[in-house]
Amino acid sequence: MNQIADRDRSETRADRSGADDRFAAGRDRLAAADRSGADAGEPDDDQNRSAAEADDGHAADQNRSSAEADRSSADTDRSSADTDRSSADADRSPVDGDLLAITLAITGASGAPYAVRLLQALNTAAVPVRLVVSATGWRLLHEETQIDGEGELRRATGDWSHVKVYDDHDRGATPASGSAPSRGMVVCPCSMGTLASIAQGTTRSLIERAADVTLKERHPLLLVPRETPYSIIHLENMLRVTRAGAVVVPASPGFYHRPAKISDLVDFIVARVLSHLGIEHVLGPRWSGGERS
Ligand SMILES: Cc1cc2nc3c(=O)[nH]c(=O)nc-3n(C[C@H](O)[C@H](O)[C@H](O)COP(=O)(O)O)c2cc1C
Repeated sequence: MNQIADRDRSETRADRSGADDRFAAGRDRLAAADRSGADAGEPDDDQNRSAAEADDGHAADQNRSSAEADRSSADTDRSSADTDRSSADADRSPVDGDLLAITLAITGASGAPYAVRLLQALNTAAVPVRLVVSATGWRLLHEETQIDGEGELRRATGDWSHVKVYDDHDRGATPASGSAPSRGMVVCPCSMGTLASIAQGTTRSLIERAADVTLKERHPLLLVPRETPYSIIHLENMLRVTRAGAVVVPASPGFYHRPAKISDLVDFIVARVLSHLGIEHVLGPRWSGGERS
């Protein structure tokens, strides 16, 4: 078992280093889009994509062999997940051949603008996204951003050629599987209800199951909760998920960068999320106090 675990760990590292170059290409795309003031899907996409594709052969091979190792070592996990997983088989590849996908879950906490901006940034960076929105997540998107349904979300967030959408009721979809290659998961915003379920491992929805799998596979899990004040239950749940390996990124923007607009506050949080995922970006402030020259 230890040998298998060691092999998995080293191949996961190989996956990540192979993917990082291409994430840097995505970073450049995001910078270019922001510089021109555009949202996403700019004409330079093709140029950057071909640059990213130029070196994908070797890393794609690494990804494939790593995925095979994952599959063979995950047999015990699969017995529970296989019950309703047939719908996932069609799209369990790393998505788009080269980059590892990120699962983005949007739940019903206040903070839908964070989710919209994050999806926009991931799309601009050409990061493959597995998107799951809870029922209350859709409600908050409507309440806080006037976005009604998938079509409007698509129009508000740029190029969707790397986005796949999953139904939160389908616990057999790709994000529910530990053998599907993944760069990690973000729940943004994360309701205290979903946080509690993740803390307890109840897996009663695709979002909860995907978060549970992300933890057990030791992939990055970022939770962006928004509530005030916190009850002791909220605090204990945050401690519990942190101990299990998640990173809690409260939707608590700073003010030291003197935000002038709401979008400055939004970008502050989204920048922290992107940084934790290892996706370089040009959003938000970078503190550089104390420099003497
Ligand atoms: C308008 C509105 C605002 C809400 N704001 C929050 C919030 O900021 N934080 C939170 O934890 N729950 C909030 N809730 C409650 C959650 O939406 C509720 O607990 C829901 O069951 C969460 O389900 P989900 O995690 O599956 O999306 C809000 C609900 C509504 C309708």
